[in-house]
Amino acid sequence: MSKNIFIVGANGQLGTALRELYPEAASADVDELDITNEASVMSYNWSGIDTVINAAAYTNVDGAETTEGRRAAWAVNAAAVGHLSRACSQYDMALVHISSDYVFDGMQETHTETEAFSPLGVYAQTKAAGDIAASLTPKHFILRTSWVIGDGNNFVRTMKSLAEKGIDPSVVNDQVGRITFTRDLALGIQHLLENDASTGIYNLTNEGESVSWEMIAKDVYSLCGHDPGRVSGVTTEQYYEGKSGIAPRPLQSTLDLAKISKTGFTPRNWRTALEEYLTE
Ligand SMILES: NC(=O)c1ccc[n+]([C@@H]2O[C@H](COP(=O)([O-])OP(=O)(O)OC[C@H]3O[C@@H](n4cnc5c(N)ncnc54)[C@H](OP(=O)(O)O)[C@@H]3O)[C@@H](O)[C@H]2O)c1
Repeated sequence: MSKNIFIVGANGQLGTALRELYPEAASADVDELDITNEASVMSYNWSGIDTVINAAAYTNVDGAETTEGRRAAWAVNAAAVGHLSRACSQYDMALVHISSDYVFDGMQETHTETEAFSPLGVYAQTKAAGDIAASLTPKHFILRTSWVIGDGNNFVRTMKSLAEKGIDPSVVNDQVGRITFTRDLALGIQHLLENDASTGIYNLTNEGESVSWEMIAKDVYSLCGHDPGRVSGVTTEQYYEGKSGIAPRPLQSTLDLAKISKTGFTPRNWRTALEEYLTE
């Protein structure tokens, strides 16, 4: 079934992948529609739209620990989701909202959709609040994802650039999870919408082994033709020693993919996706 989609936060990593997947869809970034402005959201011309995908967010995890960042993160990640939820409820649109592994403290080895919230830092708390706001929309999909890689500044690009500059980095070895390519995230959203899946929360990351950031960095070095031995591991505590204003990170970020798999969607293995990303 074709959907009339509107993409909010269209210039971010996920927004870019969604615009590629849905070239016909209407879209806006903050310049055209600032979702923190309730009046703008409520008075926007939503005619003909049946699904709003919210790819907008304040994603600077450490920035959210500052005085200004705290306000911005709450405005974009929580209050603005309330505005979108109200507009979607009023104009009978479905809301697709993107959530995060950060809504959990990372004490469980894998996280199912039913685990209770336990966010650690400010960004994490705002994302949990956003989930609650989104869940009040009669038709909602909340996609929980982790370690997003797409067209933008991200970990894989940083490691590739360090490798090329001859830098031998220390990378955190006690945070474990799976990277998620925006292409797979966008395809998973399309799958849920086109197959009229039940509304609710779905975990969605790439599939495969759960590994640390250090292991991913080593893979990036190898795949780019550099010696992975140049990457060394450090604990999160060692990595941030002497630095202030750092948000706490969950140590276990692996999201259980059983629910979305049952709908018939299988995301690519993250290593296969990483190889393709680095050769693109
Ligand atoms: N990145 C990760 O590792 C990660 C992990 C788990 C979950 N997630 C979630 O995945 C989703 C997509 O993340 P991403 O990496 O694609 O984010 P991103 O690249 O940071 O993009 C977010 C976009 O939202 C826009 N935006 C910010 N404030 C806005 C506002 N008030 N109104 C409208 N647009 C606004 C930003 O514009 P400006 O750039 O101009 O501010 C940017 O284009 C987010 O919900 C994020 O929380 C991300």
